[in-house]
Amino acid sequence: TTSEPVVLGAEFVRDPHGVNARLRELGAVHEVVMPTGLKVWWVTRWEEGRALLADARLSKNVADAGKLFERHQSDMSRQRDYSHVINRSMVNMDPPDHTRLRGLVTKAFTMRQVAGLRPWIEEVADEVLGSLAGRAEFDVIADFAVPMVMTVISDFLGVPVADRDEFCAHASVLTSDGDREAAAKASNALAELVSGMVTAKRADLGEDLLSSLILAADGLDRLSDDEIISFTVLLFVGGFDTTVNLVGNGMLALLRHPDQLAAVRDDPALLAGAVEEFLRYDGSANISHWRRTVEPVTVGEVTIPAGEFVFIALGSANRDPARFPEPDRLDVTRTAQGHLAFGHGIHHCIGAPLARAEGEIAFRRLLAHFPSLELTVDPEELQWRPSMLHHGLRSLPVRTAQR
Ligand code: HEM
Repeated sequence: TTSEPVVLGAEFVRDPHGVNARLRELGAVHEVVMPTGLKVWWVTRWEEGRALLADARLSKNVADAGKLFERHQSDMSRQRDYSHVINRSMVNMDPPDHTRLRGLVTKAFTMRQVAGLRPWIEEVADEVLGSLAGRAEFDVIADFAVPMVMTVISDFLGVPVADRDEFCAHASVLTSDGDREAAAKASNALAELVSGMVTAKRADLGEDLLSSLILAADGLDRLSDDEIISFTVLLFVGGFDTTVNLVGNGMLALLRHPDQLAAVRDDPALLAGAVEEFLRYDGSANISHWRRTVEPVTVGEVTIPAGEFVFIALGSANRDPARFPEPDRLDVTRTAQGHLAFGHGIHHCIGAPLARAEGEIAFRRLLAHFPSLELTVDPEELQWRPSMLHHGLRSLPVRTAQR
């Protein structure tokens, strides 16, 4: 048992799976201390984590949590600074407000639309990869994943080409641990950019998601401009780094397991399943977003009091041996279905179909363009971005052999 709560920090960023394995051994839920000093409950196991993600006794309503945010000098308290943007997005709401927003945006954001995007996503991937032809070395993150994902999400949303770099830079600030002032600035800048886009778009509707959001209606109900701004910022912040990390973490997993790399090279039809395995094995999000108990909640032997913050450690649940046999083994042919990398319940990732399509296409085209890829550095030397929430590499340098 732990009498002293575990303090999470640099070791967790470097080796989340090692830290999670130790915590998971101790039990399904623990009090841990975040790098900022805030005590939270950390859910380590798959069954309990999945149940709690869908448990209405855990609220995501930021308005109720506001007082607590004020009391803690926490990484979450910085949300106050940009409350007008992120706090009004549906990821920080409970039903019925969440239900209304999710219904309206789902109308604009359908599976069918994503399926139709596949040929175009492939073109984007090929164009970026074409620009790397002849290079003996490149960085999978900066030279491939970032430009590909940035182009896809920007075109999808309708972000003008001139604003794209700025969008990505602000989104990256918001998904890294760091000072509150920088986060507030980035968030306000994003909101301003999107606000200008909404005004321009009203006069010139197109095929993009922003146009669909403006048009989306449920009877007389529509999204207000502020709601469109909050949602667009949420999409960018939730959909950019995470998808870059899917490509980066998945590619690292393959480079470290040459037999698995050979298997997907031999049979690219394995890639759709391999993407699920990459998400399970080394997913883009370490943890769910915050939740707060509205009443005492008992998990196994432990009762979490009312009013406490809870994080579901998605990366830990996805390596729970009770659910996934030999969880630390990468196996692109296993059934990784049921992993929690996209969450579960009413807040389950709305962008999952897009992320899955981008991932499958990115790996398929990357392997097709380069018949041989290997790391140029010792994997232990790779640097991870400093974030408790997101798990992704700063860079992934590879050496190529040309076709
Ligand atoms: C929600 C992960 C890509 C938009 C979530 C949640 C997770 C997640 C874990 C649930 C958080 C919680 O319940 O606390 C991921 C991963 C991605 C990815 C691992 C890539 C591999 C995307 C993309 C988009 C997106 C591409 C949009 C273009 C959203 C939105 C929500 C969400 C809007 C909030 C849904 C709600 O509150 O109902 N995502 N995401 N995500 N994601 Fe993703």
